[in-house]
Amino acid sequence: MSELKLPIYLDYQATTPIDPRVLDKMMPFLTNEFGNPHSVEHNFGWKAEAAIDVARAQIANVIGSISEEVIFTSGATESNNIAIKGAAFAKFPNKNHVITAKTEHECVLASTRSLEKLGFTVTYLNVDHDGLIDLDELKNSITEKTSLVSIMAVNNEIGVLQNIKTIGEICKSTDILFHTDAAQAFGKIPLNVNDMNIDLMSISGHKIYGPKGIGALFVRNGVKVIPIMDGGGQENGLRSGTLSPALCVGLGEASKIALNDMTSDLKNVSKLSKSLLDILRHKLNNVRLNGSETDRYFGNLNLTFIGVKSDLFIADLKNIAVSSGSACSSAKHKPSYVLNELGLSKRDISSSIRIGIGRMTTEEEIDFAAKYIIKCVHNRQPK
Ligand SMILES: Cc1ncc(COP(=O)(O)O)c(C=O)c1O
Repeated sequence: MSELKLPIYLDYQATTPIDPRVLDKMMPFLTNEFGNPHSVEHNFGWKAEAAIDVARAQIANVIGSISEEVIFTSGATESNNIAIKGAAFAKFPNKNHVITAKTEHECVLASTRSLEKLGFTVTYLNVDHDGLIDLDELKNSITEKTSLVSIMAVNNEIGVLQNIKTIGEICKSTDILFHTDAAQAFGKIPLNVNDMNIDLMSISGHKIYGPKGIGALFVRNGVKVIPIMDGGGQENGLRSGTLSPALCVGLGEASKIALNDMTSDLKNVSKLSKSLLDILRHKLNNVRLNGSETDRYFGNLNLTFIGVKSDLFIADLKNIAVSSGSACSSAKHKPSYVLNELGLSKRDISSSIRIGIGRMTTEEEIDFAAKYIIKCVHNRQPK
């Protein structure tokens, strides 16, 4: 049995380590192959451009789109901003209504709040105790002024998977654009932009064992998006600025690996996470899984340990790296708005932690984590 390296990383929703296979592909573009991909007069530029073309196709392949429909960005935050604001602006002023959900990532909610300041109206859909939106509420919220629906695929805090296919059907039948923030879903679960009627999809590199600072946005051919940044007009005019070949190649390779390994990754992650949940449920009587038990990506376990305060608890858990919610909101020490929308009390929210399991997680690590969490919960529980 190999020796365990502590602390154990269990925060795969915040970020993931770069897969060594990805780094290998990136290295030449950080050293000898330094050309500007937008230089059209010489071989340095052509080589960089060719590598980016391959990466674009690798990303498109994961979601059943074509290369021309994929633009590179700095990450899902930027993709969400471009998609939501850009698509809403393109239909304005004829249409000025956008629909999203209350449990979206902060960067989606911040984008829609910006739209509100500019005169748009936004409907924020509720979620039920499982974290799922009500599809009838979605249908009833649509008006002739609605231009865009933005609903995430997998939630970053609780792992819940919305019914993307049905949402896509509703949007298609009402001629409304459908954007999905797939930062936590792309490369982890099967997604097909055509089967699911998705018009815009946001993707992040560092959630799929690729580098940080790179993402992508799928924009269906024919969908009009107004650029929110001016410049040289790269990326179909939607995202000006010189691309980083190393980062693009990294995201491309990470996408290719994610697609090839999706079935085995998903099987492994689900097995480990179910086993952790089973052990905790068996040994502790105060543990509760937040969000739907069935409609979820199992690499994310958001658990409430009733009666245990999570900030003290997380401090206790120094041998395992977990979080109290999203990386952004945990940095602000604000109670999770996502758990609040699920109807958890303030006390239960503060007793909740997110455990993220990923490609590199081993059985030994899960064994250790289970025993360790049980010990810490016992220490923190009133005797
Ligand atoms: C659902 C979701 N959307 C958007 C983002 C932002 O992604 P990025 O770090 O690539 O900007 C994240 C990352 O935390 C996320 O989990």
